[in-house]
Amino acid sequence: MKDTFDFIIAGGTLLLPGGPVETDVGVRAGRTAAIGNLGAASAAQRYDAKGLTVMPGVIDEQVHFREPGPTHKEDLESGTRGAVLGGVTCLFEMPNTDPPTTTEAAINDKIKRATGRAWTDFAFYVGASPENAEQLGTLERLPGVCGIKMFMGSSTGSLLVADDANVARVLASGTRRVTVHSEDDMRLTERAGMVKDGADVSMHPEWRDVETALRCTQRLLSLARAARRRVHVLHVTTAEEMDFLAQHKDIATVEVLPQHLTLAAPECYQRLGTFAQMNPPIREARHRDALWKAITAGIVDCVGSDHAPHTREEKARPYPRSPSGLTGVQTLLPLMLNHVAEGRLTLQRLVDLTSAGPARIFGIANKGRIAVGYDADFTLVDLKAKRTITNDWIASKSGWTAFDGMGVTGWPKATIVRGHVVMRDDQLIEKGIGAPVRFQETL
Ligand code: DOR
Repeated sequence: MKDTFDFIIAGGTLLLPGGPVETDVGVRAGRTAAIGNLGAASAAQRYDAKGLTVMPGVIDEQVHFREPGPTHKEDLESGTRGAVLGGVTCLFEMPNTDPPTTTEAAINDKIKRATGRAWTDFAFYVGASPENAEQLGTLERLPGVCGIKMFMGSSTGSLLVADDANVARVLASGTRRVTVHSEDDMRLTERAGMVKDGADVSMHPEWRDVETALRCTQRLLSLARAARRRVHVLHVTTAEEMDFLAQHKDIATVEVLPQHLTLAAPECYQRLGTFAQMNPPIREARHRDALWKAITAGIVDCVGSDHAPHTREEKARPYPRSPSGLTGVQTLLPLMLNHVAEGRLTLQRLVDLTSAGPARIFGIANKGRIAVGYDADFTLVDLKAKRTITNDWIASKSGWTAFDGMGVTGWPKATIVRGHVVMRDDQLIEKGIGAPVRFQETL
């Protein structure tokens, strides 16, 4: 009997766990059902992927959308729309919304808002605070929750767990990996005088300096060891932290961002001003080089975007009243493909960082690789396409990218979420099919 599928992606180069293979993949009921020559099989829908590379769906484990709260910058619909235009199939959204996502009601509200509107699959972080520390063990297990987020340094929003005693309370509650914004808040407060009104934005990495980041990461790791709790250190920016984290890989995973891998101080501040301002900051080239070395050395576990939209008017305020954050969910993959084209990492390592890595860190069920039984999430890319990133391509309500005008080689051609083609050739196709991500039960 002839095999039948809902959907066949034919003739692309599949990036399988063992390496690239030019073959077909068959999808049934949203799952990958067969890998191999399916020339004789029938399918309701077929995608000719000859000449294209089929990656496992790209997972962005760090985005800040602004719903509920300042939805004039972004909402769950616009944020996930930008994601699929950029080849992202699944994302985890941060809790510094208004109100912050610190309760079961706030989590359920976000899931309700995303359902029927999100273009990607999604999960939400619970924000840690001194008030909810003892409830985190329960909150982290709610459906649709990817884990806990703890801000040890103040950034956008009011979430903060600054001192060791409260950090220890957070780490003691629950068992899943805790993600951390690691900048020492006491040092930030002590040195805030450096960036009074009238200071230049190039002071941003001097105020939020290497010591601010390193000291916090050292405190975090010593508290995590005492609590026997696994941590995920977000957006690591310094050579010094990478050396330190390499000694703690049994308990700490590491994220880096395309912004920190692509831009460097002082050039970015001279060219972009406050539009390069983010936390932790973009630093000098020696740190950027160290992040690349850490990718090669395997210290880095994943690349996320830290998509953090603010309007142009807000960003144009004089420093330091300008908010920190850059858009990124839509440019994550084009920038990283361009780094592949320029020889900074292999395509296989990119898949490790954007699919397999997040799946391993967070214990995602059925995502992160192309395999029979896994969700049929695919990002189809044209590795040879030459395109220019422009503001008018950006779906974010904020409408800008720090990479406007940058030519890149490599571009997402289609975004497929559980067998639904949601983006093809820069066109949006099937909306609102995003669903909460599932996680392994035992973690
Ligand atoms: O630059 C940043 N912006 N860093 C953060 O930690 C938060 C983010 C935001 O939400 O704007």
